[in-house]
This record gives sequence, C-alpha cells and structure tokens, in this order.
Amino acid sequence: MTHPLEDLRDAALSEIAAVPNEQALDAVRIRYLGRNGSISAWGERMKTLSKEEKPVVGKSLNQARAAVTAALEEAGKKLRAASEAGALADLDLSLPGTAGELGALHPLTQMLDRAIGLFYRMGFALAEGPDLEDEWHCFDALNTAPDHPARNEADTFYLHDGRLLRTHTSTVQIRTMEAAPPPIRVIAPGAAFRRDEVDATHSAQFHQIEGLYVDSGVSVADLKGTLEFFLRELFGSDTAIRFRPHYFPFTEPSFEIDVKSKALKSGEKWIEVAGCGMVHPAVLEEVSRARGDDAYDPEKWTGFAFGLGMDRLAMILFDIPDIRLFAQNDLRFLRQFAS
Ligand code: DAH
Repeated sequence: MTHPLEDLRDAALSEIAAVPNEQALDAVRIRYLGRNGSISAWGERMKTLSKEEKPVVGKSLNQARAAVTAALEEAGKKLRAASEAGALADLDLSLPGTAGELGALHPLTQMLDRAIGLFYRMGFALAEGPDLEDEWHCFDALNTAPDHPARNEADTFYLHDGRLLRTHTSTVQIRTMEAAPPPIRVIAPGAAFRRDEVDATHSAQFHQIEGLYVDSGVSVADLKGTLEFFLRELFGSDTAIRFRPHYFPFTEPSFEIDVKSKALKSGEKWIEVAGCGMVHPAVLEEVSRARGDDAYDPEKWTGFAFGLGMDRLAMILFDIPDIRLFAQNDLRFLRQFAS
C-alpha cells in the first residue's frame, strides 16, 4: 500500500503535466503546496504522530514537496518559453522601423553660440538679468530722464505695479556693476520687449547682446577694436564697418555701428547692427550711490558698452528676410538651418 503522501505527490505531478497555462499551474501549486494545500497539511499532522512514524512520514513529506516543487518550476519554465515564442511569432522583423527625428539648433541659438564664442576669446564673461525689471534699472540708473520718450506707455510694456518688461539688455550693465566692483568685462545676451508695430523688421520681443567693459584707461580705441574684431570674425574679413555719431543717454560719446560687405546679400548697403559708446560718468556715479561706496569713481574708471541686435545679426548672417520667422516655428523655415 502506498502512503497517502505518495498518492498526493503522484496526483500533483500528473496535474502539473497537464496544465495548459501559467495561471492553471499556479492554481495547482496553491492546491498542494499553498498554506492550506493538501501536501502542506501533512506538516501540521506530523505533530500528532508517534515517535516511530515521524521520521518515516517526514521523509515522505520532504520528498513529495521537493518533487512537486521541481515539477512546478520545470513546467513554469516551459510555459513561459512557449508564451514568449508565441509573442515573437507575431513579430515581423522585416518591417521597416520608425526612424527617430534628430532636432537642430534654432538659427538664433546658432548665432548666439557663435557670438558668445567670439567674446569668450576676448575674455568676456557671461552675465544675466531678469526680463521683468523695475524702472530704475531700465531707465533711471542708465541716466534716462523721467520724460524720455522710451519710457512712454506707448513704447514700453508696464505691469500694474509699475514694473516693466525690459526694453533693452542695458539693465544688465547696472545689475553687474551693483554686484561687483571693477574691472568688469561681460556680455549679456537676452530678450528685450517693445510695443512696436509688428512687421518684417520689428517684433514685440527681440534679442540683444549687451556688452560692458569697465577698467582703468579704457578708451574709444578699445571699443572700436573689440567690435571690429567681432564683426569681421562674424561677417568676414572684408566687412566694412562704420561708427556713426549718435545719442544714447547712458554713453558719451555714443555711436551707431553699420556694416557693409559684398559677401552679404545686402551687398553695397550699410546696415545698422549696434549701438555703443563710452559709459556715461553719471551712470558710474549712480551705481556707486546705489552700492553705497565709490567703487565706480568715474575719475578712476572708464568703460565702454554696446548693444548688438541679435535678430538683426542672424538675419544678415543667414539671409533671413523677416524677423517674424524666428518665432513662428515653421519647420520648413527651421529645417534650412539644420546641418
Ligand atoms: N540699449 C540700446 C538700445 O536698445 C543699445 C545700446 C546702445 C546699448 C549703446 C549700449 C550702448 O550698451 O552703449 O537701443
């Protein structure tokens, strides 16, 4: 006569051999080896057995458990392999894949990277300031009188609390000097905002690269050398560059810079690319006053500043006819700058 444990074991083994899937296999495992399983029940029963019976039944119990566990594992492996093979059978490896599309840098970003690289070579560091500004940083500290037309509500975006969207990146000149004493040699690329009528050359948001260099003995010659180097590296060595006297409240003397080059689409025409000048002593004095020291004593320090129109530079460089194209996200336009 066989022991009931052996019958249980044989029953389990033949059920395992017949299961159609993993779920059914799990049900068999629970029925025999689960907490209330029929083989497991013999574990409890052991406690009631006599001294002589215990080792005999214990051995059968261990053998039954080991045999059923091994069979469960083996069957599980087979079932998993079969279901994987089934999934792969539906897979057609000869079908073409979905190609990933590679992105590219926006033309303004490409322009900016080139500009930053050139100014790095001349020892300029990067500086930045917020787009949302106060009137003092945007106008007062830059020697701009309260009745100056640029401060008009028709030209500048004001918030109800009196703050504004900066109309130029010159604000960063002030923030940089407030934060550190001279010498200063920074560029500050960023957005600027004006309530302009939008057309092919005007946008409510545009981009500038501000520059500021303050040290002892800085002169107009340094200003010219720096910007001529930058513009010739950017547009080619045969680019003609003209400094035209102009007026800005925060520089004295002030200039506008025009470029002309046969290599460019604009050809023989002068095109304006920047405003610049020698930092006005009133600006240095106002910064010292705000700092509460005389770090920017205009008797000791001089400096130059400039503001380059970044969109304008990119339009010249890449022969782009309309500033609005930069913000429209039209892939037919953008793809032309993906290399
Ligand atoms: N902030 C001027 C503008 O937006 C440009 C400019 C002119 C910047 C002269 C300067 C400067 O730093 O010195 O039109």
